[in-house]
Amino acid sequence: MSKQFCGLDFGTSNSTVGIPVGNGFAMCPLEGESVTLPSAVFFDYEEHKVRFGREGIGAYIEGTEGRLLRALKSVLGSNLIEETTLIERKRVAMRDIIGMFMRHLKSLVERKVGRPVEHVVLGRPVRFVDDDDAADARAEAELIAIARAQGFAHVEMQFEPVAAALAYEQSLECEELALIVDLGGGTSDFAIARLSPERARLNDRSGDILGRSGVHIGGTDFDRRLSINHVMPMLGYDALIGPKKLPMPSHFYHDLATWHRIPMLYTPQNINYLRSILHQVDHPEMIEQLIAVFAERKGHRIAAEVEAAKIALSEQPEVALRVPLEPPREKILHRGDLDHAVYDDGMRIVHAIDMCLSAAGIAATKIQSVFLTGGSTAVPEIRRQILAHLPNARPVTGDLFGSVGLGLAMDAARKFS
Ligand SMILES: Nc1ncnc2c1ncn2[C@@H]1O[C@H](COP(=O)(O)OP(=O)(O)OP(=O)(O)O)[C@@H](O)[C@H]1O
Ligand SMILES: [Mg+2]
Repeated sequence: MSKQFCGLDFGTSNSTVGIPVGNGFAMCPLEGESVTLPSAVFFDYEEHKVRFGREGIGAYIEGTEGRLLRALKSVLGSNLIEETTLIERKRVAMRDIIGMFMRHLKSLVERKVGRPVEHVVLGRPVRFVDDDDAADARAEAELIAIARAQGFAHVEMQFEPVAAALAYEQSLECEELALIVDLGGGTSDFAIARLSPERARLNDRSGDILGRSGVHIGGTDFDRRLSINHVMPMLGYDALIGPKKLPMPSHFYHDLATWHRIPMLYTPQNINYLRSILHQVDHPEMIEQLIAVFAERKGHRIAAEVEAAKIALSEQPEVALRVPLEPPREKILHRGDLDHAVYDDGMRIVHAIDMCLSAAGIAATKIQSVFLTGGSTAVPEIRRQILAHLPNARPVTGDLFGSVGLGLAMDAARKFS
């Protein structure tokens, strides 16, 4: 019997799994009909069970007592991987929470294909960690170890933009020199590839991948910047403490605006500290709000509203951002607010594209097509900056969420047959 394999894209925001079907490949349904599973784990304290994806996020938003974790991929390669978080009086390691999520994905695929799946190609960003090769290597080793612990006996890796290139190549009728742009929730990843229907039949494609690069910037960073600019001031970000008018400790606000750091904030120590400074700050009512956000674990609810506003602003000129405080607040945001929030990150993304071009030894003017995938390629200002940098390239918008998982399955077919 042939080996059963899959390609698994464990994303910062969404995960997908590509599987072989007949002579081709398809995305595996992961939650109902949906082929994406939001990378979210919710420990439901009321029913004492673990819920994943939309179901978990939904339970949290509805107010079910419990603990939500998101953007877990951002923990790989950082010291947070060693951290534990308190789940119903038990300390659970972040590593084990990622493992639960991966085991869930594995069981969904096995249910779909009807047999055990022990061979997997895992996607990885070009850089898990910027400017630190040792931490980057550690992140990959952690991900492999987690996959093995869930029963994937044979684990191979592929770069996410290379996988996206393989998926894009399926749609081509003649050869082109393409820049693959994959902007996700956590990272931006690039590859320059020579693609064609003839080359697609070759087994070894290493000669066709001319360069790659990556930077740890993604949609969760855009969320953070919008949140710092427009929500955190409501919670005392600019408040001053005592007669010396010292600034509020900014880490509370940065962590509250950063998806993967939110759960670490909900400690009695933090709440006690905020209570202790209440009578010294110039805006105690804002700090009261902050205390309530911590005590009621509303951090992800705020982040989700900010993310929804970002997505709406990518499609329309203005949106009313709802901030779930008590009483609820509303703030009108304009497209220009989003453009402003992401502008600097856009420049860093373009700089990473330049690194990719120089790794390949190719001028920007020589790129014939730019394949855009990943949810964050929908942000207009980011798209504008990228396309302005590649004057002769034809933009191609791919399936924003499926290309990587599909390409990983194609790569798995090569690696395991
Ligand atoms: N229409 C949209 N406009 C703007 N941003 C969007 C849109 N749709 C999704 N996003 C953003 O895209 C990001 C998720 O994209 P994607 O699912 O490709 O990431 P991922 O693969 O999980 O992350 P990574 O590849 O970085 O690990 C989120 O930050 C989300 O808010
Ligand atoms: Mg991705």
